[in-house]
Amino acid sequence: MSLDKNSTVAVIGAGTMGTGIAQIASTFGHRVQLFDISEDQTKDSEKGLVKILQRQVEKERMTQDEVDGILNRITFTNHLNSVEGSHFVIEAIVENLDVKQSTFQKIEALVDQKAIIATNTSSLSIASISSALEHPERFLGIHFFNPAPLMKLVEIIPGISTSSGTVKKARSLIDAWGKTTVQAKDTPGFIVNRVARPFYGEALRIYEEGVADHATIDWAMKELGGFKMGPFELMDLIGHDVNYKVTESVFKEFYYDPRFKPSFAQKRLVEAGRLGRKSGIGFYDYREGAEKVEP
Ligand code: NAI
Repeated sequence: MSLDKNSTVAVIGAGTMGTGIAQIASTFGHRVQLFDISEDQTKDSEKGLVKILQRQVEKERMTQDEVDGILNRITFTNHLNSVEGSHFVIEAIVENLDVKQSTFQKIEALVDQKAIIATNTSSLSIASISSALEHPERFLGIHFFNPAPLMKLVEIIPGISTSSGTVKKARSLIDAWGKTTVQAKDTPGFIVNRVARPFYGEALRIYEEGVADHATIDWAMKELGGFKMGPFELMDLIGHDVNYKVTESVFKEFYYDPRFKPSFAQKRLVEAGRLGRKSGIGFYDYREGAEKVEP
């Protein structure tokens, strides 16, 4: 059975990525169950989505009816049982192998053997996650970029046990959602995160060595390097907890190759809860009334 508008979708994790993926799926016309273990997170996700969509109405990019339709098709839930019977499940929870594996075991018990199950992991191997599944042939990596509704590219990563039918169905669904898909091998960081690691890593090293401050590095990369965002702005957007974990995981997977060594400065930010935009402060301060940093 192929996946279409009538297929029901479950998104696991209502954080930055899960909320964006739920928005995409609902905009396409699916009924979506958006599950999170945290009630606060679910409330924040709904509030955030309402705000984003309302802005689209103000800018006359969407009608109120369209926005109401998108919101009505999403059920924000803290009960995992709500994903029962979903045809397509995509997980975007914390980047932790044990937590992801145990979540997938619970999900497998709730959906049909033919349902397609995917992970949005940035750095864990698809093979390692799939080892916990009873039916790994219907499991694969589908890696969106942040912000998911705006970023066109999606990486499709079959694991060692993924069937070709699963890849075909998943890829044609994501294409139908209006994304541009690229298939990548199950290797640390896949394509984009592998290439991007030195971008963040070298920027953090330059900053730690005192070569220049973060705003100057961002300014130089944008003004002179032609990048849309500087590395520090981008890490603030991604979330330092997520970005640090991905670096740690890629470093480990590449047998501690010093090219991928994580940064102490970033670790301190994570320890202090300065996670970037989502916590109000990272390298930059996004809180109301905060002074704007100029290079
Ligand atoms: P986030 O921290 O914004 O959201 C994670 C959510 O998962 C939180 O709401 C948390 O309450 C929830 N959660 C944790 N354990 C759970 C469980 N057992 N069951 C249900 N919900 C649970 O994280 P973000 O940024 O959305 O990342 C999620 C995944 O997407 C990670 O695997 C990350 O590597 C990947 N990713 C992140 C990108 C980014 O730029 N932030 C880009 C592409 C992929």
